[in-house]
Amino acid sequence: ISHSLMDPFGRAITYLRVSVTDRCDFRCVYCMSEDMAFLPKRDLLTLEELDRICSAFVARGVRKLRITGGEPLVRRDIMTLFGSLSRHLDSGALDELTVTTNGSQLARHAKDLVACGVRRINVSLDTLDPDKFRAITRWGDLAKVMHGLDAAQAAGLQVKINAVALKGVNEDELETLLEWAHGRGMDLTLIEVMPLGEIDGQRIDQFLPLSMVRARLAARYTLEDLDDRTGGPARYVRVKETGGRLGFITPMTHNFCESCNRVRVTCTGQLFMCLGQEDAADLRAPVRASESNDLLDRAIVDAIARKPKGHDFIIDRRHARPALSRHMSVTGG
Ligand code: GTP
Ligand code: 5AD
Ligand code: SF4
Repeated sequence: ISHSLMDPFGRAITYLRVSVTDRCDFRCVYCMSEDMAFLPKRDLLTLEELDRICSAFVARGVRKLRITGGEPLVRRDIMTLFGSLSRHLDSGALDELTVTTNGSQLARHAKDLVACGVRRINVSLDTLDPDKFRAITRWGDLAKVMHGLDAAQAAGLQVKINAVALKGVNEDELETLLEWAHGRGMDLTLIEVMPLGEIDGQRIDQFLPLSMVRARLAARYTLEDLDDRTGGPARYVRVKETGGRLGFITPMTHNFCESCNRVRVTCTGQLFMCLGQEDAADLRAPVRASESNDLLDRAIVDAIARKPKGHDFIIDRRHARPALSRHMSVTGG
């Protein structure tokens, strides 16, 4: 259809990730610096502006919306946004409204998410060891996340755990994570760490190629390739012994850009056509310029027309600099 968004490489854009805040109650080492300076509140899009932008994308054929951050559930009144966006589920315009969260606020929001039509959520959790958890998140309380997970499952949400695989940190715990997640009826997806923000030696030392992890897991479990895609970058296998799904997100060792279907909007209304590139289009000015969505729609269409082919992340000692100076907390993964 002429109304849909098609990029120069013939990829249809059907998945929008929206970061609703750059703030977070944690400071994961690969995501933020310890002394992150957060944006002044006036730079943030209001919840109404976020709704208008999401809705403009839905009108252009986006079928999947993921709310991210920072930590999306720390944004004040965030359930108002979920509530208003749920109308697109009701109308059938949207297949999925979902969220990626660190889980810390789930205990108080799980039921409301379900009421807004959210079915499936992704929770970022790299370790089951409280001390390691504190080391990775700099001060996070694992017990609070566990409490949140209990509430989410009790409310009927399907949960996928996202774990960044880190050499020398949670490397030896991945089987434990797998057994735990699958034992609770949750999927697990492993992610390769990307060189974002101020990368220090650590990020490079911690890089763990998932091809190695997969080989190690394959020696112990029967991994059956699955074709089902969730519309995200993960490739999934079924672990025969546990019956659960295991995903691999491999931006560093296996580029999945050729099938990219997504773009992302930051909490200030910057539209990033690629997680791994600097180019962005401002949507805040057009959304604030007029009550009609014409300018906004034009800005979106123009931006998609320059979506790059892909990212060029590298992790290499000789290039010990960030591929991108932008922290993950800005674009939300
Ligand atoms: P599902 O709907 O469960 O498939 O989720 P998803 O994988 O689309 O979203 P999720 O928030 O779980 O994303 C997991 C992580 O994958 C993100 O935080 C990023 O680290 C990474 N990721 C997602 N999309 C891209 C992308 O387009 N490029 C790169 N390099 N990484 C991505
Ligand atoms: N590399 C890979 N994944 C990252 N995440 C945050 N920063 C990075 C990075 N540098 C992940 C988090 C979370 C998701 C939103 O992004 O662990 O699962
Ligand atoms: Fe917060 Fe998620 Fe970033 Fe960790 S990865 S600091 S939980 S936004």
